Amino acid sequence: MQSTSDLHVAMIMDGNGRWAEERSLRRRDGHQAGGDAVRRIVEAAPDLGVTDLTLFAFSSDNWQRPPSEVAALMRLFAAYLERETPRCLEQGVRIEVFGRRDRLPRRIAAAARNAESRTEDCERLRLRIGIDYSSRAAIATAARQAPNNSVEAFRAALAAAMNLSDPLPDVDLLIRTGREMRLSDFLLWECSYAELYFTVKMWPDMTGDDLADAVSDYQRRQRRFGRLITLGEAVEELRNGTL
Ligand code: FPP
Repeated sequence: MQSTSDLHVAMIMDGNGRWAEERSLRRRDGHQAGGDAVRRIVEAAPDLGVTDLTLFAFSSDNWQRPPSEVAALMRLFAAYLERETPRCLEQGVRIEVFGRRDRLPRRIAAAARNAESRTEDCERLRLRIGIDYSSRAAIATAARQAPNNSVEAFRAALAAAMNLSDPLPDVDLLIRTGREMRLSDFLLWECSYAELYFTVKMWPDMTGDDLADAVSDYQRRQRRFGRLITLGEAVEELRNGTL
């Protein structure tokens, strides 16, 4: 049985395009509806024991999508950051954007800086949003730049390569929506021991209750980190009915 607090949940938000196509809408309408789902998930997370929520919004490979879709996504990210910052401040949500900054439209870079500085003292939830992020590229940069062979130095270099102020904690639970079951270059180092949860729901349909279902599935799992279960843990699991 897993702890019900201090959870780091990471999410691959997939299925916006198919959600729109199924409704004869434009792909950008699916992304728009995806923005509403982000708001629902951010609101629900703290009450479920989630202290860190890391979202994959735009991978470095997504630049290969049609320019009109990329432009619509960029406008949506900027609008989200501009509009949600006051609400996040009220809700105690600290916003951070990670990934490459040098290729982002100026409006997003400015909105990210503003959201980060205004919410930096918020402590209820740390919301990190990956935009122009590639885990492989970040790991490769960190490997070149870490000053010595220690894991701590590598973690610090990885945070710097992701443009984060401090190292990302290991992911406890990785959720991917939209029926696909792959990692797509997301948090490859940080997900080393993550529990994986895949749902057939398309991202725009995700609600706080869906997040609660995923967290309760996680809580029933047994994490061993490569070791064997101890006798004490087995007794505890038997008591809880989870063994
Ligand atoms: C993948 O679905 C989703 C994306 C590439 C964009 C994710 C963006 C959002 C959820 C919008 C809101 C986000 C924020 C942070 C405001 P897809 O388009 O590849 O779906 P498909 O596989 O059905 O085509």
